[in-house]
Amino acid sequence: MEKKWTQLWLAYRPCRESENGPVVRYTALEGFDLAHPVVKNAWREWRRGIGGMLGITPKLTERETLQKEGARGGLWIRRNEDGLILGGYRIHADAAGTVCLEAGEETGLLYGVFYLLRCVAMQRPLTELSICCNPDNLLRMTNHWDNMDGSIERGYSGRSFFFEKNRVIVNGRTRDFARLAASVGINGVVINNVNVKDEATWLITQKHLGALAKMAEIFAGYGIRLFLSLNYAAPMELGGLDSADPLSEEVRSWWAERFRIVFSAIPKLGGFLVKADSEGRPGPFTYGRTQADGANLLADLVQPYGAVILWRCFVYNCTQDWRDYKTDRARAGYDNFIGTDGAYHENVILQIKNGPMDFQIREPVSPLFGGLRRTNQMLEVQIAQEYTGQQIDLCYLIPLFQEVLSFQTYCAKQQDTVADIVSGRTFGEKDEKERAARPRWGMAAVCNTGNEENWTGNDLAAANFYGFGRLAFDTSLSAEEIAKEWASLTFSNDPGTRDAVVALLMGSRDTYEKYTSPLGIGWMVTPSTHYGPSVDGYEYSRWGTYHRADHLGVGVDRTDVGTGFVRQYHEPNASRYNRLEQCPQELLLFFHHVPYSYVLPSGKTLIQHIYDSHFEGVREVERMIEVWESLREKLPSKPYERVRERFARQLENAREWRDQVNSYFYRKSGIADEKGRPVYGALGKETGNEISVQ
Ligand code: GCU
Repeated sequence: MEKKWTQLWLAYRPCRESENGPVVRYTALEGFDLAHPVVKNAWREWRRGIGGMLGITPKLTERETLQKEGARGGLWIRRNEDGLILGGYRIHADAAGTVCLEAGEETGLLYGVFYLLRCVAMQRPLTELSICCNPDNLLRMTNHWDNMDGSIERGYSGRSFFFEKNRVIVNGRTRDFARLAASVGINGVVINNVNVKDEATWLITQKHLGALAKMAEIFAGYGIRLFLSLNYAAPMELGGLDSADPLSEEVRSWWAERFRIVFSAIPKLGGFLVKADSEGRPGPFTYGRTQADGANLLADLVQPYGAVILWRCFVYNCTQDWRDYKTDRARAGYDNFIGTDGAYHENVILQIKNGPMDFQIREPVSPLFGGLRRTNQMLEVQIAQEYTGQQIDLCYLIPLFQEVLSFQTYCAKQQDTVADIVSGRTFGEKDEKERAARPRWGMAAVCNTGNEENWTGNDLAAANFYGFGRLAFDTSLSAEEIAKEWASLTFSNDPGTRDAVVALLMGSRDTYEKYTSPLGIGWMVTPSTHYGPSVDGYEYSRWGTYHRADHLGVGVDRTDVGTGFVRQYHEPNASRYNRLEQCPQELLLFFHHVPYSYVLPSGKTLIQHIYDSHFEGVREVERMIEVWESLREKLPSKPYERVRERFARQLENAREWRDQVNSYFYRKSGIADEKGRPVYGALGKETGNEISVQ
């Protein structure tokens, strides 16, 4: 049974005014074939959108008759490659009021149509447009950690709509997902979990290839390539070989034959994502080979099919001893990969998480960005809110992603930000067109969708899906602009309502950070579920995720006298992080073990900062709830109620975090909150001062 679902930002609600009416009535299509699946879908979407919003059924006509037909000039879609790369489009209007949409190929046309539809929905006059949009990132992907039994690893929005009972599902939702993804420029989708086990290992066999081919066809109609995650041990688990050694001839022939079968069934398959030698997954290290040996074997074999291998850099020792103060998980990505820079074949792309740990609310940028110079790279972020509130707590992540993208690595004299690197501008082919001809750079997000009616559990979490796509396409967009678009399209063009929603989104990341773990130290979450506080939950575990709090201070010494992690950055970042006084306050505990009495740049002691930020965080959640409640009459009741219920849970969670973290540090330090607020010491609720041991 298909569960019903909403259309999110593609709802195409009726617009009050129809200033755009004359433009949208007639369209001339020049140089594009309506029979092409992408063009057909673009036209279908245009009719659906314009029909829904303006109650008009757009008609096709000839260019020559365009002017005669409408009161104004209509829409003229034409093929023009000049200055446009794959996915790019240009829109401008002439004096007669004809709006011209130009694209060099079909996906550009599709994205241009979605752009126009957004403008209509936001009631922007199309005749005033003059834009040229080439995508900044060539690969813009979502990664779905969906399992074939229908569960989703780190999924907070119901079950999978790609798999059910160990089968691939292709239905109306597949198409709607593709529409949503394409509407924000996504052009690659990995549908299965990076941890490939059980039935998922069999995805590359005849058992599932038929259904996958159908899905790939639907995706292709929206300019999206299907990708699969691969089990590195498949030669053993499927093929019965006794090894998966990348240098073994037998293993090579096994993969060669497997890929022949897969690509003959799904010629449009984009390639494979591989999590190897990580968290118990098999990989080349088992055979004493390098990550490059592992990736190149697969890459060479998929090369004839025009496919790529996305190789993850999330490789670290997950059986660490907490007593070992020298091994530092933060160092692992760089230590495991830097030596192989330049050793990867041209269709391998290393996929690197934004931070050196694991999608915490605050981390420095992974030093692999700027470290690797001769290797194709992609940035991996997570919009599934594993550590950031699990779509119960509101946490709009686009400001975080923007911080990452604008981080200056100092790896080159110019064009040295993460945005420059992952777009290929820094180390890829210098010519934009050449780069676009063989896309090897970009961004991927671990996605937050599931089969719930509203796709993302919390209705407001859809802003992260929308925002990721928009940002990956155009890294110059601000988080606020994106939030505005999303709120208008999803809820309302009424400025009061829209701006209130935008304000909620924009403040949410800081709020979440305030009531959870302080100043970049991360973790302190309930082990395995990763929701809610457990300050020492990971402190004595094997995962390498420690905060090292004692009675004097907290934080991990990653300076050059500590684990030496700072040395993985270029100067001046390395020195800035290394020196306590220069280290950005928000990352202080990531890089330093700091006494509670240390005075921060803000003028507060560390301990007082911890108390204050936690009290503030909870107050902010209370205020967010008031704002949301003030919108009751302005919003449709279902999403209103759903979000209201989430906020109530968020408040409970925030209070729990505040009280556990504050009490923990009070008990460790013996230093009372100078404002005398409730913190829970040995005798229960303390106002602090009377039992202070300062
Ligand atoms: C995190 C997450 C896992 C996931 C892993 C990964 O550790 O908790 O569920 O498999 O990241 O990115 O591979």
